[in-house]
Amino acid sequence: MSSSHCIVIGLFCAVLLGGSLSHGQLTPTFYNETCPDVLSIVRGVIEEALQTDGRIGASLIRLHFHDCFVNGCDGSLLLNNTATIESEKDALLNNNSVRGFGVVDDIKTALESACPGIVSCADLLAVAAEESVSLAGGPSWGVLLGRRDGTTANRTLADLALPSASDSLDTLMSKFSDMGLNTTDLVALSDSQVKFMRSLSNDGEKNNNGNGTGLADLDPTTPDAFDNNYFSNLQVHKGLLQSDQELFSTDGPDTVYIVNSFSGDQSAFFASFVESMIKMGNIGPLTGVEGEIRLNCGRVNEDVSGSDALLHSYI
Ligand code: HEM
Repeated sequence: MSSSHCIVIGLFCAVLLGGSLSHGQLTPTFYNETCPDVLSIVRGVIEEALQTDGRIGASLIRLHFHDCFVNGCDGSLLLNNTATIESEKDALLNNNSVRGFGVVDDIKTALESACPGIVSCADLLAVAAEESVSLAGGPSWGVLLGRRDGTTANRTLADLALPSASDSLDTLMSKFSDMGLNTTDLVALSDSQVKFMRSLSNDGEKNNNGNGTGLADLDPTTPDAFDNNYFSNLQVHKGLLQSDQELFSTDGPDTVYIVNSFSGDQSAFFASFVESMIKMGNIGPLTGVEGEIRLNCGRVNEDVSGSDALLHSYI
C-alpha cells in the first residue's frame, strides 16, 4: 500500500498494516512484486468510465458487496450462465439491478495487459470498491489482497443471502451476522448505497427525481459526496427505503445509538466504514492454491466451450 493511501486515516491505516497478518493470508502487499501498479491501473479505468457514467463507482462498490455475500469474495458474481453454472447475475436482487460488468471487463483487460494471469477478479472487485469510495471523496485504505477466483456460482444462495430493501431490522442483522458482520458493520456499510443516485425499479418502487432518469437521489443534502449526511437524514426520518429507516427505528436501540454517533462525527464514521469494508472483503476468501486466477472474469479458465453463446447482455 502506498503511503498516499493512508492520508485520510493515517493512524487507522498504520494499525491495519501492522495487523494484516490477523486477516488470514490476505495482505495489502500481495502484488508488490508481481503487479505493483494494480491500484493505479484500476483507478485509471474507473476515472475514465466516470467521464460517461457518474454512477459507475456506486455500481462497482455494490458488485464487491454482492460478490462477498455469496460464497465469500471469490468473484462468483461475475460468472456468466453456462451449461453447468447458474449465474448469480440472475438472482432476484441482482437481475436488472447490479451493473458495471463492462467496466469490470475493461479493468481486467488493463490488468491482463500489464501483468498477465496475476490479479484475480475477486481482488479486482475489492480494489475497484476502494478506489471508487476514494474517488467519491471518501476514505482510502490498504485493501487486503491475495484472493483467488472461485469456479462455481450459487444463484440459490444469492436469493437467500442478499439483503432486501423490504427486510426487517432483525432479518438484516441476521443476514449480516451470517457473514460475521455485526450491527456496527450494518450501519456503517449502509451509508455507501445512498451516496449515489440509484434506481429503485428492482423493488417495485419507482422514483423519478425530475431529471428523467428514473433514479432516486436518496441523500437530498449532499448527493455527490461520500460523507456522514445519510445518518443525519435518518435522524429526521428521511431514509427512503424501509431497510434504511429500520436503522433508526424504535425497534433498534443499538442501531439508533450508532446512527447518532456517526451523524455527529464524520471521522469516526470513516474509520468504522473502512474497518467494515475490510471485514466484508475478508469473507471466505480463497487463497494459496485454492480456486484459480480467472483470465476472463465471466468464465472459469477451463471453459473454452463457446459458452459466450449463452451469455445475456449484461452491462
Ligand atoms: C443493509 C442492507 C442493504 C439493502 C437492503 C440494500 C438495498 C439496495 C437497493 C434496493 C439498491 C437499489 C438497487 C437498484 O438500483 O436496482 C441498492 C443500491 C446500492 N447499494 Fe445497497 N443495500 C444494502 C446494503 C449495502 C451495502 C452493505 C453496500 C456496500 C458495502 C451497498 C451498496 C450499494 C450501492 C453502492 C448501491 C448503488 C448501486 C448503483 O447505483 O449501481 N448496499 N442497495
